[in-house]
Amino acid sequence: MTIQAAQRMGLRCLSLDPDVQSPASQLAPSILANLDDGTAIARLLQQCEHVTLENEFIPADSLRKALDESNVHPSILMPSVGTLAIIQDKWVQREALTRNGLPGPRAFPVSHAHEGGFPVVLKSRKGGYDGKGVRMIKNAEELANTVAEIQPDAWMAESFVPFRRELAVMVSIASDGAVQTFPTMETVQVDGVCSLVFPANVDASEIAIEAVRAVQGRGLFGVELFELDNGEIQINEIAPRPHNTGHYTLDWGGISQFEQHVRLCMNWPLSQETGQPTCMANLLGQPGAGDFRQAIQAAIQAVPDAHVHWYGKALSKPGRKMGHINVVGDNARPRAESARAAFYRGWVSETP
Ligand SMILES: Nc1ncnc2c1ncn2[C@@H]1O[C@H](COP(=O)(O)OP(=O)(O)OP(=O)(O)O)[C@@H](O)[C@H]1O
Ligand SMILES: [Mg+2]
Repeated sequence: MTIQAAQRMGLRCLSLDPDVQSPASQLAPSILANLDDGTAIARLLQQCEHVTLENEFIPADSLRKALDESNVHPSILMPSVGTLAIIQDKWVQREALTRNGLPGPRAFPVSHAHEGGFPVVLKSRKGGYDGKGVRMIKNAEELANTVAEIQPDAWMAESFVPFRRELAVMVSIASDGAVQTFPTMETVQVDGVCSLVFPANVDASEIAIEAVRAVQGRGLFGVELFELDNGEIQINEIAPRPHNTGHYTLDWGGISQFEQHVRLCMNWPLSQETGQPTCMANLLGQPGAGDFRQAIQAAIQAVPDAHVHWYGKALSKPGRKMGHINVVGDNARPRAESARAAFYRGWVSETP
């Protein structure tokens, strides 16, 4: 979606991609290689004027080596390799947030996981997404069983936060320090996967900006937050890229997170343009799913002004994020949920 925004402004894009079938490779040329392939990263750096990331999984060390090898200026990369190194290890990220006085769950090594009582959360330090790499541990027995399955050094423990709801803020910080934030959104997760995103009617932008500053962030960041019963806001984690909780901006009528991302990478001025209250519902892969086009038809038959986005991923697996639906304006949330329900009915009922 960043490539689509860049192409609309006439920019030519190249991606590093392990799979030619991927959504990015369907839109623009790609270098086919694994994301930690230093030689391929170096080739990409040499061929591009500006480079960014759509996930935080490229090891910072591979990027550092590739930057040295390719002899390009590190500033072509946004976010910086330093920020990426902090964020991609949840333990190091939590240390940076805590050092800067930002509230959040207490983190401790897995060997000390029992010390704060139960429940406790175990998290893979690197590579987690959609709740993969997050385990909620209710008691000592579950802890022992889980510890036996994992590599304890690659994981961390975190105190459980009894949040009232989860929030998210997209934060842009330009190279010159200019700041923009998108509205604070409420996010609903089901089984660790984001399901719904809609306006939260609170403003958590201040703490979100501080979180990004704590990791010396320049670029676009999704900041995930916990709101407690007393209204206190704590930081869950930061993503150094466009984020699922910002997908509603594709249709809200203001600037999209993807165009803002392109502006940040190009060192162009930021837009402060806002849009209408909008709700986004994720479309997850379903068992027995048929033709997605029948599903789109069903969704827009039910809610004619629903905007369906389909990513064109080659493989639909149950639970995988395959697309999303945006609905703008009054009653956006119930209408987005109706459109999604119709989508799923149309998707799985189709005769093969
Ligand atoms: N310390 C905690 N206390 C309570 N709930 C938590 C805690 N940490 C995580 N969670 C729950 O688990 C979800 C996933 O955790 P987290 O965001 O750390 O993992 P992730 O897999 O990297 O996330 P994402 O889905 O954003 O990729 C959170 O959105 C939240 O619902
Ligand atoms: Mg998360």
